[in-house]
Amino acid sequence: MNMKFLVGIAGLASLGVIQLPIAQSASLVCEITIDSDDSVQFDRSRITVPSDCKEFTVTLTHSGHRDVKEMGHNWVLAKTEDWEGLAEDAMRAGPENDYILPGDERIIAYTDLIGGGESTEVVINIAELDHDTSYTFFCSFADHAQPMYGEFIVSDD
Ligand code: CO
Repeated sequence: MNMKFLVGIAGLASLGVIQLPIAQSASLVCEITIDSDDSVQFDRSRITVPSDCKEFTVTLTHSGHRDVKEMGHNWVLAKTEDWEGLAEDAMRAGPENDYILPGDERIIAYTDLIGGGESTEVVINIAELDHDTSYTFFCSFADHAQPMYGEFIVSDD
């Protein structure tokens, strides 16, 4: 593409003859991907959800190589006031329950347990969450909760 052509395009755009694409400033993003790997950690410690989202999809990926039995990860959401007790009980539920205590009402949302190379997702109904309440996400696999947790914030901004 030569300069004369580029100048010509710019000139037409400035006259309003053609429309150049403009960035969409107010697009609502109601999904996020959070990665985990063979080290016991998530790649983010905070997830912020625009309160305008009716639903929010969290995709959990595991970019490591280790098996689900050795290095399993899931993504569990709870109220911050509940999460540590919940994490202890989930760990006690053990591998036979995929580290989720059956029927635990403190759990707001959770994904399947995955191993290296796998991914999973969960959809959260944001309308059911209280914007003034503090939420925490974590991995409930054996002994992972303490390094693998973070803030989940519903923001009006
Ligand atoms: Co984990």
